[in-house]
Amino acid sequence: MKLWGGRFTKEENQLVHNFNESLSFDQKFYRQDIQGSIAHVTMLAKQGIVSQEDGQVIINGLKGILEDLESGKLVFTKEHEDIHSFVEAHLTERVGEAGKRLHTGRSRNDQVALDMKLYCRDEILEIDRLLKELLEVLLKIMEENLDTYMPGFTHLQKAQPVTLAHHVGAYFEMFMRDRGRLRDIYRRMNECPLGSGALAGTTYPLDRAYSAELLGFDGPTFNSMDSVSDRDYVIELLSALATISMHLSRFSEEIIIWNTNEYRFVELDDAYSTGSSIMPQKKNPDIAELVRGKTGRVYGALVSILTVMKGLPLAYNKDIQEDKELTFDAIDTVKGSLALFTGMISTITFRRDVMEASAKRGFTNATDAADYLVNHGVPFRDAHGIVGQLVLLCIKKGIALDDLSLEEFRTVSPVFEEDIYEAISMETCVRKRNTAGAPGQEAMKEAIAACKRRLACDIQGVSERLHAGIPAGED
Ligand code: ARG
Repeated sequence: MKLWGGRFTKEENQLVHNFNESLSFDQKFYRQDIQGSIAHVTMLAKQGIVSQEDGQVIINGLKGILEDLESGKLVFTKEHEDIHSFVEAHLTERVGEAGKRLHTGRSRNDQVALDMKLYCRDEILEIDRLLKELLEVLLKIMEENLDTYMPGFTHLQKAQPVTLAHHVGAYFEMFMRDRGRLRDIYRRMNECPLGSGALAGTTYPLDRAYSAELLGFDGPTFNSMDSVSDRDYVIELLSALATISMHLSRFSEEIIIWNTNEYRFVELDDAYSTGSSIMPQKKNPDIAELVRGKTGRVYGALVSILTVMKGLPLAYNKDIQEDKELTFDAIDTVKGSLALFTGMISTITFRRDVMEASAKRGFTNATDAADYLVNHGVPFRDAHGIVGQLVLLCIKKGIALDDLSLEEFRTVSPVFEEDIYEAISMETCVRKRNTAGAPGQEAMKEAIAACKRRLACDIQGVSERLHAGIPAGED
């Protein structure tokens, strides 16, 4: 069933139909398509472009189609070119003549632009909700682990002691920024393209502001040619999704490392790990690996849409139909990854004793030993050298700095006193690091309190900092 048969004398070739059709994938936004049509016809009736009676008949027909699609009574069949043709054909079949008036003052170009926007907007809210759920789990881990000492790494080499709360807090920040990006995109895209027609508006007296309002937009778009060919919001969304994936992938990589036999920092819940068909001893971190692996598909979607759009003259071109499958796939992939990652991290067991022992064994307090000397008047460069010699001695003996006797300390520098042990204990090393954003318990408690306030702000709210009562320029 074609919407455009009038001008044509030949039947469409089957291969052409198959290549051209989009119903197989744009059926995914049937709800948004019907929602948009109801708003359009409500506006047409208000403006007297269709009669009130026809308007009501069309709306009832559209609601019936929606209901039947939801219940499975109505199914998608291959002969229709896209979701728009499918809905219009069924509407006319159900309500007769009035159905043919639905498309007055509209083109599939502004219709599909609207559907895609509505779909992305709904999904942004859903992804934001999933991010918030993950952040709540991270916050709980942070609150419970202010005193869980672990090595902080640079170059994947033990560097200085931190706490698990502080380490997880770094990911909290990443996912908070992801929420901020979604909020920015939502605000920028929230203009309604409906009423832009094929590219040059229409001659009917449409009330675009009214249909925009019905659909919860801030207002109508400003340029009809831009409206039908703009997919910037898809690009921005895929870019935000690529960044979320990158963050999930980094965290997954750490979980995979922490789960190795060598590290043993974590124990994955049985429900979130899998076994081997041949090696009975195995418990593999498949979920973390899959989340890491799926990042590739999301990056691919971003590069694909950028490439699709790069050569397009104004206004609509059929190339734009390629925006859908990759966007849907990236959205579903990120939603799945977020949900699974949240499940995995909320059921994981952190081995606090192993983490702490690892921090002790790795000379993570060497900087603090040097700082001790500096506080006793030794120039930092000399202190660095002295502690370097002590480390070498420890490596030879296979012990930690704390295990050296005071005599051994003093053989390298007479400045050391009995209080060196207190100065380089894991507790002191962390507790004294209290600059804003540092792992010290006092600084962390303040950071966590701010995290809680920032988390409470949702997409439609004011800026997260303002909401949290944090003045601009702080932290
Ligand atoms: N399926 C099309 C798309 O997704 C709908 C718009 C068709 N417009 C057209 N002029 N052929 O882009």
